[in-house]
Amino acid sequence: MIVFRKIDKKEENQAVQLVLALPSEVQLGYFYWPPDKLLSEFEVAESYGAFVADELKAFVLWRNNADVAEIMCLATGKDSQRSGLMAQLLNSAISVAHCMEWVLEVHESNLAAQALYRKLNFECVGLRKDYYRDGGNALIFKRKT
Ligand SMILES: CC(C)(COP(=O)(O)OP(=O)(O)OC[C@H]1O[C@@H](n2cnc3c(N)ncnc32)[C@H](O)[C@@H]1OP(=O)(O)O)[C@@H](O)C(=O)NCCC(=O)NCCS
Repeated sequence: MIVFRKIDKKEENQAVQLVLALPSEVQLGYFYWPPDKLLSEFEVAESYGAFVADELKAFVLWRNNADVAEIMCLATGKDSQRSGLMAQLLNSAISVAHCMEWVLEVHESNLAAQALYRKLNFECVGLRKDYYRDGGNALIFKRKT
């Protein structure tokens, strides 16, 4: 059974391990979240995870600024991808957070994430040029709740 809930402090390392197990080209490319950066983000962000028997399978971190939730980081473990998990997790997070608007940036080459956001009714509303370490542009997506 999948349980969607907040991630406890003692479970944050499971998110680190989940990210470290993603393919290295993902981690060095459009998804740069080394352990220290991810753990720092946990300090300031809200978190929600998908757990199976207390094992973290997917997570999302967002910052809540004046009723606008900015998604900072999300990932599904490599063995759990493409089973609808992130779509369910994100919908759960959106329903518990009670924010008026959700916003995020995604690398222009991250087509899987863009397809996910479009499926969940996010709209692409802008572009930030040269936003990422590799010089890639960021697409800005938004969704009203
Ligand atoms: C992007 C990511 C979070 C998707 O998680 P997921 O749990 O596999 O996504 P879901 O199974 O819920 O997919 C929901 C929808 O997203 C889209 N999608 C997900 N993975 C996709 C892929 N590899 N290719 C194309 N579309 C994809 C599809 O529209 C899918 O619906 P469908 O299966 O009915 O076609 C996952 O690939 C991941 O962790 N990637 C590495 C980290 C990352 O890129 N994070 C986002 C940074 S902005």
